Amino acid sequence: MKNHDLVEKNIGWMILFTVIAISFGALVEIVPQFFIKENNEPIAGLKPLGPIELEGRDIYIREGCHVCHTQMIRPLRAEVERYGHYSMAQESVYEHPFLWGSKRTGPDLARVGGRYSDEWHRAHMYDPRNVVPESIMPAYPWLFDNIVTGEHTAAKMRAMRTVGVPYTDEDIANAGKPFIGGRVTEIDALVAYLQQLGTLVQQKR
Ligand code: HEC
Repeated sequence: MKNHDLVEKNIGWMILFTVIAISFGALVEIVPQFFIKENNEPIAGLKPLGPIELEGRDIYIREGCHVCHTQMIRPLRAEVERYGHYSMAQESVYEHPFLWGSKRTGPDLARVGGRYSDEWHRAHMYDPRNVVPESIMPAYPWLFDNIVTGEHTAAKMRAMRTVGVPYTDEDIANAGKPFIGGRVTEIDALVAYLQQLGTLVQQKR
């Protein structure tokens, strides 16, 4: 009893023991996750993003799309019915940094791939009011004028490889090819990125 009095009457000890107890709880929950194989292995069919999709992803980050859109469907009935199969760790194995997000001003985009046509996305990005009259999403008309040079695509792939994304030497050698002649605009790259999101898991829609 004596020892417990000490903890109850002294706020310093109380804080210390509370922190130890909570840290232990966190460790027990988090550490085993690192060793569960199916969480760390890429899902069947997962390939690193191609050069155009990789550039599209960087445009997504540059424009701050992740500030209004999550890419994380939680395993709750309302979410699964609206967006499709809940997100799984194995789908994000090659994501650096991941874009799960934490704020949904717009809908979740984890499984937006294939939901709309390329033309729909282009009309929507040029001005969302073209296709969703009540939309509050900003317009991104400059994506239609800007050309992706691809001069840094190989370097980006090499950087990804250092954190474990399995790009081959051949992938890296060919990284700049699709961009030769200025054929790829930023909107092409962004739409290519959006169209592959979440498509490896069967959609229940
Ligand atoms: C200020 C917040 C905001 C930002 C920033 C934003 N969006 Fe949106 N987005 C929305 C809202 C709200 C909607 C729902 C209305 C609509 O469809 O336009 C939406 C809808 C969408 C949809 C349709 C999703 C669906 O399932 O119907 C896509 C795709 C999309 N946004 C992509 C993007 C991309 C790509 C960017 C970055 C270039 C972006 N958004 C930036 C707010 C935002």
